Amino acid sequence: MKLTLKIWRQKNAEDKGQLVDYKLDNISEDMSFLDMLDVLNEGLIMKGEEPVAFDHDCREGICGMCSLYINGEAHGPDRGVTTCQLHMRMFKDGDTIYIESFRSKAFPVIKDLVVDRSSFDRIQHVGCFISVNTSGNTQDANNIPINKQDADDAFDAATCIGCGACVATCKNSSAMLFVAAKVSQFALLPQGKIEAADRVMNMVNQMDEEGFGNCTNTGACEVECPKGISLENIARMNREYLKASI
Ligand code: SF4
Ligand code: FES
Repeated sequence: MKLTLKIWRQKNAEDKGQLVDYKLDNISEDMSFLDMLDVLNEGLIMKGEEPVAFDHDCREGICGMCSLYINGEAHGPDRGVTTCQLHMRMFKDGDTIYIESFRSKAFPVIKDLVVDRSSFDRIQHVGCFISVNTSGNTQDANNIPINKQDADDAFDAATCIGCGACVATCKNSSAMLFVAAKVSQFALLPQGKIEAADRVMNMVNQMDEEGFGNCTNTGACEVECPKGISLENIARMNREYLKASI
């Protein structure tokens, strides 16, 4: 495949940044999107030019590090996949592909396509934990009866990988789907009940402090989420928040 790439280049957080054109040839449709960027970077390094900075780690849809806005969509045109799982067969020979960083005030650009998502870490630090009885009389978790539906819903919520696509795709840069998934994961299980009220209050407050916007029920986050996190989690978080407030 022959491709024209229009890639967001930005030296650092202060730099204004701009889209830069690159031509690529001989790209296999079996390559992943990140493989294609590797090929581009190898060529740039060979020419003595600065490679394009982009985030990645596991390259199998687990870590949530890859975070590209591709042709106006978080994680690109495929559904239920992260950028690292996106294949070049989703594009056609001769295509022009726009590649930008995730954009949100709470995700400042570090360099090129790499953004700082430590705001997500700070939200998790204030609530994503449980108290455990370490007196020696700890009950075996497998002995605690849990409703099957609650267990399934908690598991679904726990599949959120913290990629930030929900924020990047939301017109308000809202982090509600991410925070709701984290709150739900604990709220549905007996082990999560102890800190339930503090957890939801602290996490929502931290989300607001980090500068994320409000949810206006557009639902774009659910559509673009690579893990299919449901909007039902936001409804659950709102109920938890209301309960905690009164
Ligand atoms: S809710 Fe979905 S889109 Fe948002 S951080 Fe989690 S996995 Fe990514
Ligand atoms: S690199 Fe880990 S999810 Fe894409």
